[in-house]
Amino acid sequence: MKTIKTARLIIRLAIPDDAEGIYSYRSDFIENKYQGWHPDSVDEIRDYIHNMPQTMDVADICFQFVIILADENQLIGDMGIIFTNHDKMQAEIGCTLHKKFQGKGYATEGLKAMVDFLFKAHNKHRIIASIDPRNKASIQLIERLGFRKEGHFRESYYLRGEWVDDIIYAMLKKEWVDN
Ligand SMILES: CC(C)(COP(=O)(O)OP(=O)(O)OC[C@H]1O[C@@H](n2cnc3c(N)ncnc32)[C@H](O)[C@@H]1OP(=O)(O)O)[C@@H](O)C(=O)NCCC(=O)NCCS
Repeated sequence: MKTIKTARLIIRLAIPDDAEGIYSYRSDFIENKYQGWHPDSVDEIRDYIHNMPQTMDVADICFQFVIILADENQLIGDMGIIFTNHDKMQAEIGCTLHKKFQGKGYATEGLKAMVDFLFKAHNKHRIIASIDPRNKASIQLIERLGFRKEGHFRESYYLRGEWVDDIIYAMLKKEWVDN
């Protein structure tokens, strides 16, 4: 998978040596309270990345990408991409930024480039995001990218001991390309 470059960012598949940088913000369980993955240690992240397939398009695996601030060569966040369904023509995306680097447009810039790459280079048909309705920053982010709200599912996701609601946003390739 090629590296994606934007005006300010480099986005590439995570490597085991990224684990410490990822843990520095993923360990903030308050900031990441709506995230499904709360890693307990740097080693948990390192093991996950180590075992991650290197061939894209494997279904139902979360491919972890890192977001690097190009000028400073600083890891500021990550993106998770899951190729859903047996057809592998669809993907789910998610994004997490270190708190220090939020509010600067990096998530919008990075996700826009990733969505563009998935549609144009990987020929995906549909991309979705699954968001907790209380996660206002995430909703703003996905709506900024032009995703449509397709459904609000009541108590459809089991998050650390409670059933929570889930909103699905989606974008079709033809909507993105024609835009
Ligand atoms: C979801 C998350 C990545 C969004 O981060 P974010 O910083 O709000 O998003 P962006 O990086 O795109 O920044 C957008 C903000 O930067 C501002 N901004 C500043 N400089 C900018 C620039 N040069 N270009 C674009 N926007 C800029 C925008 O106006 C916007 O501010 P606003 O939210 O007050 O309108 C972040 O809240 C997060 O990591 N949350 C925890 C993890 C999580 O729950 N993830 C969702 C799981 S799907």
